[in-house]
Amino acid sequence: MTPLLAETPAAGSAALRPMTAADLEPSHALSAELRWPHRPVDWAQTFAHAEGFVAEIDGRVVATAQRWRWGDRHASIGLVIVSPACRGRRIGNRLMTALLDGLEGCTVLLHATPEGRGLYERLGFARIGELSQHQGTAQSVAPVALPAGCRLRPAGANELPALQALDAEARGMPRQALIADLLGSAESCVVFDRDNEPRGFAMLRRFGRGHVIGPVVAPDAECAKALIAHLVSTNAGNFTRIDIDKASDLMGWLESTGLPSVDEPTTMLRGELPAPAPGGARLFAIVTQALG
Ligand SMILES: CC(C)(COP(=O)(O)OP(=O)(O)OC[C@H]1O[C@@H](n2cnc3c(N)ncnc32)[C@H](O)[C@@H]1OP(=O)(O)O)[C@@H](O)C(=O)NCCC(=O)NCCS
Repeated sequence: MTPLLAETPAAGSAALRPMTAADLEPSHALSAELRWPHRPVDWAQTFAHAEGFVAEIDGRVVATAQRWRWGDRHASIGLVIVSPACRGRRIGNRLMTALLDGLEGCTVLLHATPEGRGLYERLGFARIGELSQHQGTAQSVAPVALPAGCRLRPAGANELPALQALDAEARGMPRQALIADLLGSAESCVVFDRDNEPRGFAMLRRFGRGHVIGPVVAPDAECAKALIAHLVSTNAGNFTRIDIDKASDLMGWLESTGLPSVDEPTTMLRGELPAPAPGGARLFAIVTQALG
């Protein structure tokens, strides 16, 4: 794949260059200005798997954007931010064009705000669904009854390959390094077994203003609900966020756990993903809106 290269700036315009760890602090300042909840440590965790660009004017970072490559054929794009004072000057378009360079032939996923959607559509992204972002102070909820032969249990120390395979099946993209990182840093990871075989899992992680539940991988909505109910109760009394696929139909139930919907970003794709196999693993809640 083509490495990220710095652009030569036209006179008077913003200069694009590859993002480095030194750009994390000004990038975090841009997200904080928008009241996005990411902490510096959240930026560092996502950047550890990323390639990115920043735009500078007079040596000041005014825009930032990242991409994550999952194997040779898949990628996500996120954390695309242009400082409010610099919008409408095609900096967003230039950042996206730079990030997409080298991803020809790849399937690329992103979650769009209303401001970003037109930009992404003009670059070939199409809507494939919506997320519902729920957050609030989690309340203890009744455990969800599981069918015979099914159980929830903590993830074991040697289960990383099984969780990576479930995530890859559910997301349709191989994200081994990310899942390893998340498993290592999650406060809790619970596995759903059917007939002693792992069929799903869910993580509770520190993120933003408190905790996030995600990813949630399960064979169906009822199993996803059982995994989420367990982690919501584990985190009762604490600020908790979950970004769930709207097609899951779990929104009303999530509201009843103290987590109202606060936003509905659009899931967009350039390229194609295989349709989930019936009874196979599905992704009910994402890792973050940036990573998918
Ligand atoms: C989304 C965002 C990154 C766009 O950045 P930007 O630098 O303003 O984008 P551009 O100037 O390249 O404009 C994007 C498109 O909108 C059009 N546009 C920009 N300002 C416009 C305006 N005032 N009226 C109509 N169209 C406008 C441009 O013509 C451009 O179209 P094109 O892609 O076909 O050329 C920026 O609005 C932003 O940071 N928003 C907040 C964070 C966010 O929502 N990020 C997206 C997360 S997925």
